[in-house]
Amino acid sequence: MLRTIEMYTNEYKDTTQKEIRKKKGQFFTPAEVSMRMAAVESEYPKNQWIRVLDPGAGNGILSFAVIDKLLRSGYKRLDITLIETDTEILPVLEYTITKIRQICESYHAECTIHYIDQNFVLWESSCLYDIVICNPPYMKVRKDSIEATAMKAYVYGQPNLYGLFMAKAVELLRDNGQYVFITPRSWTSGKYFTKVRSFLQKELNIKEIDLFSSRDEVFQGEKVLQETMILYGEKGQIQNEKIKINILKDGTLDTGNSFWAAADQIKFKGSEQYLLLPENENDLKIIDIMSNMTDSFESSGYHFKTGPVVEFRNLEHIHAQTHI
Ligand SMILES: C[S@@+](CC[C@H](N)C(=O)[O-])C[C@H]1O[C@@H](n2cnc3c(N)ncnc32)[C@H](O)[C@@H]1O
Repeated sequence: MLRTIEMYTNEYKDTTQKEIRKKKGQFFTPAEVSMRMAAVESEYPKNQWIRVLDPGAGNGILSFAVIDKLLRSGYKRLDITLIETDTEILPVLEYTITKIRQICESYHAECTIHYIDQNFVLWESSCLYDIVICNPPYMKVRKDSIEATAMKAYVYGQPNLYGLFMAKAVELLRDNGQYVFITPRSWTSGKYFTKVRSFLQKELNIKEIDLFSSRDEVFQGEKVLQETMILYGEKGQIQNEKIKINILKDGTLDTGNSFWAAADQIKFKGSEQYLLLPENENDLKIIDIMSNMTDSFESSGYHFKTGPVVEFRNLEHIHAQTHI
């Protein structure tokens, strides 16, 4: 079924210019990745109504994947809210909604579906959710945009819609609710995500992190340049001692390497409260060594700037030196 949703999505992609999709922050989650994200742990009683939220639903592939998973696990009462502002993707979303109804019927499960055509960041929900699953739009917005103004508690410098989605989704989750987000990695250390990052780390018990080595591979030829991650968490301020990290080989989703990191080794690190993303156990050893260092580059008089060096503007700082 996910393949059919992909097929209709590809038809939409073929008739909608990449530039236009980019302006809407539209990058669609492949079927395999959707299934992986949908495998959220859910330990609710099987006869309980489960409320699922899918902000930036697009073609609805994440909703379908999670409903399919919940039905297979024996849940019988599902309430799904899909929020999407783009009307052009609507025919695909409507198709997916029909298929969600059908699959629920085939499992004799009760299901209510709410399609909301509103800006998620501004939307006021009347309830909290058990599961939020999301691939948010990746787009910078102006500091004086309606979204940034509405979420100013999370804005620091240049806001990005994806960070605002991440924060709003946590707000709408009930205690112990499940949180799955696929995003770029920039929120874990970027200066402009400082407020989002500290909110997420405080409010989420982070359980697992998937790291893809290149985002371009995940989003199949969409030329998305940033590296991607999936964050699996649970709403609550008590953090598990360990966080599982999976390094996924792009394309195949093979877990090339999985290991556990102590939460206090990687969460809230340094003055900028980074979430560190080690890619192997050796990185963990390096984190330990670095954490025990008493001096920093800064305290030793070195200052860094990232980005390309424009040599002719820095001639006074460049010295010829021969290494023997
Ligand atoms: C990255 S796509 C993800 C689509 C789909 N959920 C998936 O996983 O393939 C993000 C979606 O969010 C929608 N979107 C952008 N801004 C939005 C907003 N402010 N509120 C709700 N949806 C929005 C876009 O139109 C796009 O379909």
